[in-house]
Amino acid sequence: MTESQNGKRSKWTVSGSDMAMRTHNPIRAIVDGLKLEPNPDKEFIALSLGDPTLFGNLSTCEEMREAVCDVVTGMKNNGYVPALGMESAREAVAKEFSIPESPLTFKDVILSCGCSGAIEMALLVLANPGQNVLVPCPGFSIYRTLAGSYQFEPRGYKLLPEKSWEADLEHMESLIDDKTACIVVNSPSNPCGGVFNKEHLEDICRIAERHRLPILSDEVYADMVFPGQDFHPLSSIAKNVPVLTCGGLAKRYLVPGWRLGWILIHDPCDAFKDEVRQGLMNLSTRILGPCTVIQAALPRIFSETPSDFYTKSMKVFQENSELIYDSLSHVPGLFPVMPCGAMYFMFGIDMDKFDCFKDDMAFVTKLVEEESVFCLPGKCFEYPNFVRIVTSLPKEKTVIALQRITEFCARHYQGEQGSNGIK
Ligand SMILES: Cc1ncc(COP(=O)(O)O)c(C=O)c1O
Repeated sequence: MTESQNGKRSKWTVSGSDMAMRTHNPIRAIVDGLKLEPNPDKEFIALSLGDPTLFGNLSTCEEMREAVCDVVTGMKNNGYVPALGMESAREAVAKEFSIPESPLTFKDVILSCGCSGAIEMALLVLANPGQNVLVPCPGFSIYRTLAGSYQFEPRGYKLLPEKSWEADLEHMESLIDDKTACIVVNSPSNPCGGVFNKEHLEDICRIAERHRLPILSDEVYADMVFPGQDFHPLSSIAKNVPVLTCGGLAKRYLVPGWRLGWILIHDPCDAFKDEVRQGLMNLSTRILGPCTVIQAALPRIFSETPSDFYTKSMKVFQENSELIYDSLSHVPGLFPVMPCGAMYFMFGIDMDKFDCFKDDMAFVTKLVEEESVFCLPGKCFEYPNFVRIVTSLPKEKTVIALQRITEFCARHYQGEQGSNGIK
């Protein structure tokens, strides 16, 4: 800062706050740092963006559109509402997500600006600066972004590709110490599409119970599982563990831009009674909740959305996943891991077998340069030598992208032939 002799600033130099300056989203930081120059002769295909509405093949249903339009034309929901959310909307969420093992009333629901807003509030109420939070690795980048902002340490517990991305429980437990504030669980998951089965969730709950640690369960992909898989809300398993479940409309209802999320409070041991509930109320007053139009439409969104609405998008995610698995498991040097849900696919790359990639960043950069196909490097998820692609594209585009990836890999492969893949 420049100061004149009388102590006044003589020049305009406004600093960003320390918190703002240490905040960064690894995906943005890494992608912006890549020098991406697509091949001008090939149409650009972005397999990188986790927005199911992007390609126009998937859109929300008529009933949801009408519910929102009616709220807008009704002109009754343009004002401020309670910071925790409108009671009718909270009631609707409670009704939608109540299960016998975790009955909810509106008092157990807090509305937020997207699931990201819910995760922010949940982490902020559970962790102090200097504490650590266990997060999945590979895992959704926002956990680390928030940890950077608010100065808690993200400790990544390994997810195992050879076990359909189950958590390495021993590793998870080894990371716990007296500064651990909570365990973040994400199933179905981004970036892996892993879905934890009941026994695995029970094992995680046992660890949490042993160490008296609350769980933040990120269930933004709730119910988004392929046939043959079951989705278990963590609160249905956590009989003796307090859980803050974070969810939202974004993915399942195909409206990420509507920014409506929620926290569900599951507190079988009354551990949240004294402070956490109050803390969440306090935090909600900071920005007064999500858009009132969407809040007011929420009861109708839940009650009128046809039950088969989700099956169309899940069919697209599943068919694309199978297509990707079938093609990439025949590409020498790649290790595709079949997902069980959500809208993502991860594949590993045996870097030693290729002529010019030293890491996943170099792989994605060269793939854009030669084939105009863009995937997210695993480094964005703290998981180098893997790449994430989305499964939400129209099938025709997925086929073209796969063909290009296959040709690209064949051009640069230097090892022996053979097929791989983890199902
Ligand atoms: C695992 C996970 N949690 C939370 C979110 C954030 O959801 P929202 O768009 O509702 O903030 C995402 C978005 O991609 C995600 O993948």
